[in-house]
Order: sequence, then C-alpha cells, then structure tokens
Amino acid sequence: MSDNHILVERPDAQPGVLVIRLNRPEKKNAITTAMYARMTEALHEADNDAEIRAVAFLGTDNCFSAGNDMADFLTYAMGGGGRPSAADFLQALATCDKPMVSGVDGLAIGIGTTIHLHCDMTIASDRSLFRTPFVDLALVPEAASSLIAPRVMGHQRAFALLAAGESFSAEQAREAGIVWKVVSPDAVEAETLALAANLAAKPPHAMKIARNLIRGNGDDVLARMEEELVHFTAQLRSAEARAAFEAFMRR
Ligand code: COA
Repeated sequence: MSDNHILVERPDAQPGVLVIRLNRPEKKNAITTAMYARMTEALHEADNDAEIRAVAFLGTDNCFSAGNDMADFLTYAMGGGGRPSAADFLQALATCDKPMVSGVDGLAIGIGTTIHLHCDMTIASDRSLFRTPFVDLALVPEAASSLIAPRVMGHQRAFALLAAGESFSAEQAREAGIVWKVVSPDAVEAETLALAANLAAKPPHAMKIARNLIRGNGDDVLARMEEELVHFTAQLRSAEARAAFEAFMRR
C-alpha cells in the first residue's frame, strides 16, 4: 500500500477525534488488504487511547469507496489468500468502543455502504449513491448487514439493497434510516467533523453506557459476521464469482 491510501489524523480543531480517511481516489478508494489492516490498527488505536473519544470515517471528493479491491477479490478467487482481509477490520469495527460517525460524498459501494451500518451517525451529500452488488458478483452480504439492515430498514428495503443490488440515493438512505442527515457536497467534511467533535466533547463514561444500551452487546452481530464469512469465503472461490471479477478486470 502506498503509505497514504489510508490517512489517520488527529485534527487540532477537533480534539478527541480520530479521523480515518480513505484516500485512494485514482481507484475510487477501493480497499486493499493493506488498507483494511491500517484501518483495523487505527480502530484499535482509538479503543486503547482514552484521549480519543470519537472516530470519523471520511473519503475523498465525490467518492467514499468503490468497495473491496477487485484485484484482491480475484486473487482469492484464484485460490490465494486465507481469511478475507476485510474480516478483521469488520470485527474491529463492530467492537469499537468509541462513537463512530461517517461522512459520505458520492460513491459508496459494497463495504463502502455496509461500513455505515456500524457507524452511529452518517452524513451524506445529496449526490451520494449507496449500492451493494454482492449477489451480482456472486457474493453474499457481509459486515452483518444481513442482520442489521432488515432491523433498521425492514425486509423490503434490505432485500432491495443487499440482494437485488438496487441503488439508494442519499435521500432514500436517509429515509431507510442508514443516514442521519443529507447535506451539500461541500458541507460533508465540516459537518462530519463537527458531529464527531460534538460527541467527543460529551462525558465519555455516560456516552459509553448510552451507546452500549442503544447498540446491545453485539454478540449477535459478531455471530452473523462469522456466519456470513463462511458463505462469503466459499462464494469468493466459486466459478461464478471468478467470472464476475474477471469481467470487471477486463473492462
Ligand atoms: N477495485 C479495484 N479497482 C477499482 C474498483 C474496485 N472495487 N472500483 C473502481 N476501480 C478502479 C477502476 O478499475 C479504474 O481504474 P483504472 O483507471 O486503472 O482503469 C478506476 O478505479 C476508476 O474506476 P472507473 O470504473 O473507471 O470509474 P467509473 O466512474 O466509470 O465507475 C464504479 C465507478 C465504482 C461504478 C465502477 O468502477 C465499479 O463498478 N467498480 C466496482 C465496484 C464493486 O463492485 N465493488 C465491490 C463491491 S462488493
């Protein structure tokens, strides 16, 4: 990984906030193994540092993320790799003890959408697009999205998103309950950082208890992630998935 594909920052203007920024715009912020590893490390850093009281995920101009790197998917499909690299990151995401917010401007595909199901509040620009083409790629939902999405948005919308691969506009995502607020593209970053700073400024112990009460203990989320992972890993190695990845790489 180029050293700057994931930027981890502690902005002076937002004390107590750790920013994790996807920064690979030339590949639409597609996430590689190394990028997952760096984000996992950053979440552990947030968990272990009492000075960090909120985490903010951001992308770049008009792109949050095009999801998992397709070349990495193809490597798995061809028999390379062990446990998919997203797995440890997703576990760290689901168990992170600090409030998490995210700011989306533009594309949010695959894990670029499901990451927000774990965030406590998400800001999206009005040009954002949320889509999870898992089944189109012969894959299955991940990040415990098969559990969390139906709870948040009901069966029909969860099925449309996760199985039918329908795109959700920012407004549809807000109506579905996976986005807190829709703003103009130039306001995403400032609003997301202000939100994170606001959460970071609150009494941390009370925040932790409130958050745990609202989210539950998360055992069901971790169990579903593991269940999804069994299917996801098997499908990654299927002939139908390999054909889909090769078709993308050939474009
Ligand atoms: N993995 C690896 N590279 C990716 C990528 C991904 N998930 N998504 C985009 N890229 C790369 C493209 O290959 C291209 O690289 P190149 O310039 O070296 O050819 C670059 O990013 C720009 O993408 P491009 O497809 O030209 O932009 P676009 O605006 O026409 O389309 C997308 C953007 C996101 C709609 C399209 O790239 C896409 O469908 N990507 C795959 C998304 C996906 O299915 N992710 C997995 C979900 S589980």
